Amino acid sequence: MLYALVSLLIFQGSVAAIPGLASSFAGSTSTAVFPPPNATIGESDSSFPDGSQVGFAGPTPTGDEANAITTAPSIAKVDSVFPLVKPHASNTGSSSFDVLQNLGNLSPWQSVASFGLPDTSPVVPKGCSLNQVYLLNRHGARYPTSDAPTSKFSANIHAAASGAGFTASGPLGFLNTWTYKLGAEILTPFGRSQLFSLGVGFRVKYGNLLKGFTKLPVFRTTSEERMLDSALHFAAGFFGVQTYQQDYHQLITIENDGQNNTLAPYFDCPNANNAVEGFGSIQSTKWANTYLQPTLKRLSPFIKGYNLTVPDLIGMQELCAYETVSLGFSDFCDLFTEEEWKGFEYFIDLGFWYGAGPGNPASSAQGIGYVQELVSRLTQTTITSFDSTVNATIVTNPVVFPLDQPIYVDMSHDTVMSTIYVAMNFTGLAANGPLPTDHVPKNRTYFANQIAPFASNLVGQVLSCPASNLPTHIRWLLNDAAVPLTGINGCKHNSDGLCDINTFIAGMKQRIAEVDFNFDCFGNYTIPIPDNIVDGQFPKNLRTA
Ligand SMILES: *[C@@H]1O[C@H](CO)[C@@H](O)[C@H](O)[C@H]1NC(C)=O
Ligand SMILES: *[C@@H]1O[C@H](CO)[C@@H](O)[C@H](O)[C@H]1NC(C)=O
Ligand SMILES: *[C@@H]1O[C@H](CO)[C@@H](O)[C@H](O)[C@H]1NC(C)=O
Ligand SMILES: *[C@@H]1O[C@H](CO)[C@@H](O)[C@H](O)[C@H]1NC(C)=O
Ligand SMILES: *[C@@H]1O[C@H](CO)[C@@H](O)[C@H](O)[C@H]1NC(C)=O
Ligand SMILES: *[C@@H]1O[C@H](CO)[C@@H](O)[C@H](O)[C@H]1NC(C)=O
Ligand SMILES: *[C@@H]1O[C@H](CO)[C@@H](O)[C@H](O)[C@H]1NC(C)=O
Repeated sequence: MLYALVSLLIFQGSVAAIPGLASSFAGSTSTAVFPPPNATIGESDSSFPDGSQVGFAGPTPTGDEANAITTAPSIAKVDSVFPLVKPHASNTGSSSFDVLQNLGNLSPWQSVASFGLPDTSPVVPKGCSLNQVYLLNRHGARYPTSDAPTSKFSANIHAAASGAGFTASGPLGFLNTWTYKLGAEILTPFGRSQLFSLGVGFRVKYGNLLKGFTKLPVFRTTSEERMLDSALHFAAGFFGVQTYQQDYHQLITIENDGQNNTLAPYFDCPNANNAVEGFGSIQSTKWANTYLQPTLKRLSPFIKGYNLTVPDLIGMQELCAYETVSLGFSDFCDLFTEEEWKGFEYFIDLGFWYGAGPGNPASSAQGIGYVQELVSRLTQTTITSFDSTVNATIVTNPVVFPLDQPIYVDMSHDTVMSTIYVAMNFTGLAANGPLPTDHVPKNRTYFANQIAPFASNLVGQVLSCPASNLPTHIRWLLNDAAVPLTGINGCKHNSDGLCDINTFIAGMKQRIAEVDFNFDCFGNYTIPIPDNIVDGQFPKNLRTA
């Protein structure tokens, strides 16, 4: 049943939507409770007066806003995963192979070297000045989703280990005493630090834009615990923990059935919850059954009283990722070779490509609501027609959806960001076409660890070149690398990833016009085989309804 399991891995938002699945969660075998029962902080605990009651804060000059994205010669790359222990493959030796860059959407984000534009950096290009910035961010590292392969594997092993005749040996010997310790769904402590650091980094790079606000900023997130937690940690890093709750408004949009939500669009799109979305798992399962056969042969002799399966091995590879971001290290990582880690990355890549990426016919439709909001913000024009996942109540209310902010911050999910790239025609991320399921192709450009890792961040820089109040250009940085915009009609090749702002807006409007939300999300169709789709839309020439 890899199909159902993996489908949840890929489709993060479905847990609440599919009744019954969460009940099969094996859960951790231990439950930590903190704070201790009945230990609470009273509203006015006179033993511990707060800072304002104590006073004596010393001098507090604030200094000027930082503006590193314009003034620094380069920006610091994110490549450290402190306090996690860097995992190694079983055969890593002295090579520079990084397991953390082969964990697909379960990788902690690191700066991407290049998406095909190697000669630029995130620093505002010479001759331009920064007018506005858009941030679209994935939540930080979390525990597995409720029915992920990890909890299934743990349930299997714990059941087998409690029966007679179970022994693990050699590299698997640790399983004799191993217990599953992970929670589900919510951020891990490391995930919190990722978002806090992002908030700090964003203030250092873009803080100067705060001078353009005449009222408090509004940032958006959805209602899920890990989403809100991510938004708050970002804000705490950006504004500082003593004041962040007074420094901005946090809009929390409801992520649930029946809600129009551009940051959680799968609830408005039936084809994001059925076999159309499930095609991602079908494709990745084909590959899992190929690349993990030698692994199954190699590891099976080390376990008696239980027959390992391919889904178990997927669960074990995922446990490397999840235990690392939750517990700081994992014994599962060095069970696998570099080749097997590359295989795992490709397994996730296939799930994204065909489930929520260029190869899925409902991708563009899911991402197009965010594009409509983007155009509304870029042009300061209120949306008037509601035919996608946009929530009319929200976007027509300037209090909760202002159109004049120098800084926009939205939190979302991996699969959602993946659909938004397709809706925006970021075809450079999908160069070299559909992904085969029987081998890893030589020059692939599509890596889930680069486009949808934990805390993945897409930054839109609105620029004027030369400096003025009127923006002339826009470019997009995905995890610190400029995205080529040449897939968007009229955007010319530019080594800094720049496109003329009006050309870009016209291209987005054309995308809004050419994406058929109703057909692609609600149409009763099956995916054409072979699936050669690369624009996230059902082929127009095959439509019957
Ligand atoms: C917590 O407080 C309640 C009410 O005072 C009491 O009944 C309960 O036993 C306490 N629980 C613990 C674990 O101390
Ligand atoms: C739109 O958003 C508002 C505010 O969150 C919510 O109350 C309402 O139910 C939403 N409507 C739809 C159709 O999503
Ligand atoms: C493992 O598979 C073999 C061969 O199919 C079977 O005979 C055996 O009972 C299985 N063992 C367990 C523990 O399921
Ligand atoms: C929600 O989306 C549907 C489908 O696009 C649309 O018909 C409806 O008007 C929207 N409702 C709100 C409150 O935005
Ligand atoms: C790799 O990509 C290049 C340029 O995109 C192309 O010319 C070449 O045919 C590709 N090779 C393979 C094996 O796909
Ligand atoms: C988006 O890309 C597709 C090719 O994948 C192209 O046919 C279409 O014209 C592009 N649309 C825009 C607005 O750039
Ligand atoms: C979808 O189409 C198939 C084949 O034409 C049909 O059997 C099925 O009932 C349809 N499903 C829905 C939900 O309309």
